Amino acid sequence: MVQLTINGKQIEVPEGTTVLRAAEMAGIQIPTLCDHKELTPYGGCRLCIVEVQGFRVPIASCTLPVSNGMVVNTETPALKKSRKFILSMLFSERNHFCPFCQVSGGDCELQNAAYREEMTHWPMQPGWNGYPVDSSHPYFVLDNNRCILCRRCVRACAELAGNFTLSVAERGAASIIVADTNVPLGESTCIKCGSCVQVCPTGALIDRTSAYQGRETEITPVKSVCVGCSVGCTVTLRVRDNRIVRIEGDWEGAVNRGVLCEHGRYHPMTESRQRITTPLMKKNGKLEPVSWDEALGAIAEKFKALAGDAHNGAAAIASTRLPVEVLTAFRQLFAEKLGAEMVTSTEEGMTTAAVAALAEKQGPFEGRLEMLKTADTVLCIGANLARSHMVAGFFIKRALPKGMKLINIDPEGDELDDLADVALKNKPGSDLALIEGLKAIIIKENLGRVPMAVPNAEQVIAEAVQATGLSLESISLAARMLAHAISPVILYGKGITAKRDERLVESLYSLATLVGAIDKERMGLLSVKGEANSQAAAQLGLDKPFSLNGQKAVYALIGDDYVSKYLVERLSKAPYLVVQTAYESKLTEVADVVLPVTIWSEQEGHYVSMDGRVQKAEKVIQAPEDVRDNLAVLTEVAMRMNMPVKIDWQKSLHERKASVVIN
Ligand code: SF4
Ligand code: SF4
Ligand code: SF4
Ligand code: FES
Repeated sequence: MVQLTINGKQIEVPEGTTVLRAAEMAGIQIPTLCDHKELTPYGGCRLCIVEVQGFRVPIASCTLPVSNGMVVNTETPALKKSRKFILSMLFSERNHFCPFCQVSGGDCELQNAAYREEMTHWPMQPGWNGYPVDSSHPYFVLDNNRCILCRRCVRACAELAGNFTLSVAERGAASIIVADTNVPLGESTCIKCGSCVQVCPTGALIDRTSAYQGRETEITPVKSVCVGCSVGCTVTLRVRDNRIVRIEGDWEGAVNRGVLCEHGRYHPMTESRQRITTPLMKKNGKLEPVSWDEALGAIAEKFKALAGDAHNGAAAIASTRLPVEVLTAFRQLFAEKLGAEMVTSTEEGMTTAAVAALAEKQGPFEGRLEMLKTADTVLCIGANLARSHMVAGFFIKRALPKGMKLINIDPEGDELDDLADVALKNKPGSDLALIEGLKAIIIKENLGRVPMAVPNAEQVIAEAVQATGLSLESISLAARMLAHAISPVILYGKGITAKRDERLVESLYSLATLVGAIDKERMGLLSVKGEANSQAAAQLGLDKPFSLNGQKAVYALIGDDYVSKYLVERLSKAPYLVVQTAYESKLTEVADVVLPVTIWSEQEGHYVSMDGRVQKAEKVIQAPEDVRDNLAVLTEVAMRMNMPVKIDWQKSLHERKASVVIN
């Protein structure tokens, strides 16, 4: 620990702490602009200058490490004068005519800093140069005229998203923020994560949907969970007048630490599907609006009559995007009370069934996503993290420049291939042969961390080469890289789990053990599960493949999810179909009854992330008038069938052994 004095206050902080953070720990605020707690200190704006006894000139506190006996002053008349001068320079450099800027009035850190320093004007002639405004991006606008060159956006793009799209072009006062080689942002390599917009302290990066929709003080922030996928990022929903104005990453988020991907930040803001706002029932071959009473009465009558007929009675399927409370009630009503055999979820266990089968045998064997942050080598197989579960992909991409090695295995190839140290495009269906081949090479070359035998290693290796269509050299390179790693992590996704082949998961498990990804202290094996509550659905046993085999009625609980063409094809064969959903779709077209229900932000409930975190999503807006809550509808259907449901979802989650520790 290091002892120092700031503004006469004696404090003790860990070695390596900057003076700025030490002051914060002691409750002393130093004004900043380029600093951001999730980014590497840059020391560009100089607003955080402090006086240090023995130093000739004031110095930036955000880049200055503490030392024993240091005496620091943060508020002196000279510092105040210097800060005013620095701010005057920043204001005069570009167009900072606040009344015309959408962040003016509380949302601009530059303006707020000026108020703090009691500035009333800036005494310098402003520069009248015009800088380019880039409005080519679908989600935000880059206005270099408001930029203070703090480079937070550049650092966020590199350090948080690992994308390196943004940089600074030109020099000195003419410097501007550009994408790639100064191409329009909308045509750049930007992956639309929005991290740059979230960190920009001024009006230089403007979010399109929330611009001019109200100041921060007029918008209520509500912490919640993203239901875009199973990563489990936490979000801050900015709400005004029963409307979500903007979605931001939660800087305190245990998984994502402020970062989101396009699916989490922007897709919910650009929803274009048509909402259903009244119950519908098929009459004379046409769906017509009816009362809730009529719709629920008809459903209850139909399904109650099918009670006890496990095979030919009812079937039911629910989306894995729904809260665990809803999934638990769903299972209880249809599987336990009604006794239907075909009760499952929309993913049909594609991403969890094989994993759950191994978990049944040996309990939790998968670790947490944090493992990716400390891994020195990652083997990524069958998980296209550049397109889905993107925040997990960011953890890998941002670590690559620091020396992490990546082995990417994907028959179709993906964007991570370009960044990988070894990219293997094996033939489809050859994953098992490849994993066994990797193991055999490691064992044969005596590189394993634990004793493991493979009878006939040469033959296994030859089979791997033949089955995968890859060269022996490339497979060997991957095997050696993984075996030589000190903290390896193996991450696998739908490419592996969708096959429902338990041998694949077992083979990966033994590879992970062989290379030390799993041992007494580490759980460096992770699977990417599909939707926000795929893990919960697996725990509830909702992981059967769905097929109709003479059932007389089907209840499809879709919520606000999308419906695949394949599912519509199968469900359209149902003699009687109830669809509980928020949006019109091909499925509602073939339904006999449609029940209009809440979307993710209109209901509360819990979600279990891919690595076992149980997190709560909040209700932040009121649903349209005749739309009902998903859980309330199920409960009402159950009541009308004289089969009331009583849910204890926490208990239900632990009925079955899980591949991850759930808490
Ligand atoms: S949205 Fe993300 S990827 Fe695109 S420029 Fe900003 S930080 Fe980089
Ligand atoms: S665009 Fe915003 S975050 Fe980027 S350098 Fe300019 S002011 Fe800073
Ligand atoms: S990675 Fe998943 S949980 Fe995170 S923001 Fe994207 S969609 Fe949401
Ligand atoms: S906050 Fe320290 S130099 Fe900008």
